[in-house]
Amino acid sequence: MYKIAYFFALLYLMASCDTNKKEVKIEEAPIMYEASEMALLMRGMYEFNKAARAQIINKDSLSAFPEEFLLIHKAVLTDPSERDKEFDTIAEQFIDAQKAVFSTKSDSTLYHFNKSVNLCISCHETRCIGPIPKIKKLLIH
Ligand code: HEC
Repeated sequence: MYKIAYFFALLYLMASCDTNKKEVKIEEAPIMYEASEMALLMRGMYEFNKAARAQIINKDSLSAFPEEFLLIHKAVLTDPSERDKEFDTIAEQFIDAQKAVFSTKSDSTLYHFNKSVNLCISCHETRCIGPIPKIKKLLIH
């Protein structure tokens, strides 16, 4: 039982933003990590862009822009104070870049894809640094 709890605690540490929580007191910590709306949206955006990366590399046709991504403008955050002016500005630029990847037929799909991944990273640099190494792997070199 302890081993299972430890495993979930590790999973939580890997997925979440906070890289400072090195030690977890299993007796006290709730085992279930309840993800915020924004965290769930982010996981979806990550998976979608990971699939898109493969489609771009294989020169397959791309899926349509998922309208659910617009929820970035209102999804509830774990820490609501992270939605500040800068967040809104980067979110806007990010959505524009993603639309350019998925809604337009262009020779510059790769450019727009890398631009949007760099905007994921820009936003994460100031408020959720944990997933940055994972996000960087989305860039197409
Ligand atoms: C405008 C800012 C912003 C942009 C753009 C952004 N993120 Fe996030 N991301 C956040 C914030 C803030 C959180 C923390 C959400 C929370 O805990 O409520 C987060 C959380 C995450 C998480 C962790 C989710 C979890 O399980 O806790 C992943 C993975 C992630 N983002 C990936 C991405 C990817 C991939 C992109 C681009 C395709 C992206 N993000 C774009 C701000 C952003």
